[in-house]
Amino acid sequence: MIQIAIMGFGTVGGGVAEVLSRNGMQIAQKLGEEVAVKTILVRRFKDGSYRSLMTDDFSRIEDDPDLSVVVETIGGVDAAYDYTRRALEAGKHVVTANKQLVAERGAELLRIAEEKNVNYLFEASVGGGIPILRPLSQCMAANQIEEVYGILNGTTNYILTRMVHTGAFFTDALREAQAKGYAEADPTADIEGIDAGRKTCILADLAFGQQVLPASVPMEGISRLSLRDVKVAERAGYRIKLLGRAMRLPDGSRTAYVAPHLIPEDVPIATVEDVFNAIVVKGNATGEVMFYGRGAGALPTASAVVADVIDALQHREKRKEIGWSENGAGFVGPETLPM
Ligand code: HSE
Repeated sequence: MIQIAIMGFGTVGGGVAEVLSRNGMQIAQKLGEEVAVKTILVRRFKDGSYRSLMTDDFSRIEDDPDLSVVVETIGGVDAAYDYTRRALEAGKHVVTANKQLVAERGAELLRIAEEKNVNYLFEASVGGGIPILRPLSQCMAANQIEEVYGILNGTTNYILTRMVHTGAFFTDALREAQAKGYAEADPTADIEGIDAGRKTCILADLAFGQQVLPASVPMEGISRLSLRDVKVAERAGYRIKLLGRAMRLPDGSRTAYVAPHLIPEDVPIATVEDVFNAIVVKGNATGEVMFYGRGAGALPTASAVVADVIDALQHREKRKEIGWSENGAGFVGPETLPM
């Protein structure tokens, strides 16, 4: 029996426990052993079937030699960074859906993982249930990546879809997205384009092999759009979509930004609705490749987390192919874009 820990037991942490329990048999067949949750780190204890596994003491994970894989679904940077660093330093693999932490401290945490010969895996941090980071860094490894762009936030795409089809007001559609478990704890990050911006940074890191920090990426969300804007665009044959975009410029420098775009309604990405995300990667050998699926929600995101847990257990040595250098030289502002 393989035992793992989950740190943070909100929407995604709870989804991880559910996927492990629902698909336990298939996972055990792949690994030749069952995977069970031994310890759950929480700030506040919650009643329910996992109550007996909960602790608020991180040393019960850090000092437990039975735990070789730790799932971090706390979110944010502070505690999540501290516990992730300490778990990696204690020689444990860490798997996460935490895009903020990966975007801001990913290069440093990957370096620690490298030193300790363990994995720091974060497929779930971009695109929820869509496989995108591994395809980008491995399956497209033979390409120079020219550009990555897409709908990277399920909450805002859900809001825009509701506005177009039902004439819902922004605040009502946001409340629905929150009730469905799509939005961040503080949805400001969703509606101001910050969540999409963090995911754009992670895509840019992998596409260009160098760290792109969120502070260097201009981000504009959808909070200033009105129902009228959305309806006027629709009547003119366009959809408004919030896109994150990272691209290589002709002089070899790179740039990235997040902003709402007007897209003709017959372009494939304009037809991506509801909580779905779509990401287009342009490689210099493949041309455009598009990835599509549910970009938020407990089970799709947990699917990607649990796949990384399985991957960490199958490849107990540090995987070399996922990572980027901390030197972000050659990154420029989007004002240099040839629009
Ligand atoms: N709040 C995020 C979204 C969750 O709506 O896309 C998935 O990262």
